[in-house]
Amino acid sequence: MTKRYAERTMMMPRTLTLLMLGGLLLAGCRGMQSEKPPVHPNQNMDYQERFDPQEANPFFADGRAMRPPVPGTVARGFLKADTRFYFGRTETGAYVERLPVAVTKEFVLRGRERYDIYCAVCHGGAGDGRGIIMVGNGGQGYGYTPAPSYHTDRLRTIEDGYLYDVIANGIRNMPGYAQQIPVADRWAIVAYLRALQRSQNAQEGDIPPSVLVSIQQGGSVSPDAGTSGSD
Ligand code: HEC
Repeated sequence: MTKRYAERTMMMPRTLTLLMLGGLLLAGCRGMQSEKPPVHPNQNMDYQERFDPQEANPFFADGRAMRPPVPGTVARGFLKADTRFYFGRTETGAYVERLPVAVTKEFVLRGRERYDIYCAVCHGGAGDGRGIIMVGNGGQGYGYTPAPSYHTDRLRTIEDGYLYDVIANGIRNMPGYAQQIPVADRWAIVAYLRALQRSQNAQEGDIPPSVLVSIQQGGSVSPDAGTSGSD
């Protein structure tokens, strides 16, 4: 027992030296150039039959290795069957007359917030086309195509779906905002556009009687007066 133990301990330095020498030899090969292919003991599926992206493949009739999705394929969660909501158009492709969502006070206020972020810089806080991009720089603007006012008969009577489409896809010199503004927010902005149009074209009947009296008496009215309706 004691003898074997002694033998083993005596062997230790020799094994260690051998191991270290081996390690040094292996490490010594790193970085050295060689014409021969490297030794590749563990294949690890490194070489296999496959096609690279965009590669040709005679197996298919169209000669492409990359297969297009089966016609009609829809990614999960991306089915936009509700054309009115997603595109502002009816099934036949006409613009919807009225926005396809319920309009609440919160919805319009959300629209105001989004409008002030995305649209007011050009179209102005009142929708009169006098945003900072148009009237800044000492009144001469920055050379951008003038943004029109929303307060024209044409835009007052135009379909809600048309306004939605302008926001999503842009129009002529105005860029589309589909990337920045999600679908529901686009409709909220449409609702707020309508409120803006009405605010700039208000009839006496639009003003709540209490506020009307205050105006007639020459008093000032806060912008939020009357917006709460029945609540
Ligand atoms: C960078 C400036 C700019 C921003 C921001 C902008 N617009 Fe415009 N908008 C324009 C210009 C310029 C036009 C006129 C385009 C043309 O006729 O070439 C226009 C036109 C319009 C029209 C009229 C389309 C018609 O048929 O005459 C509407 C409605 C409109 N914008 C709504 C919006 C809404 C809503 C937003 C916010 C989501 C917005 N715009 C953001 C510049 C802008």
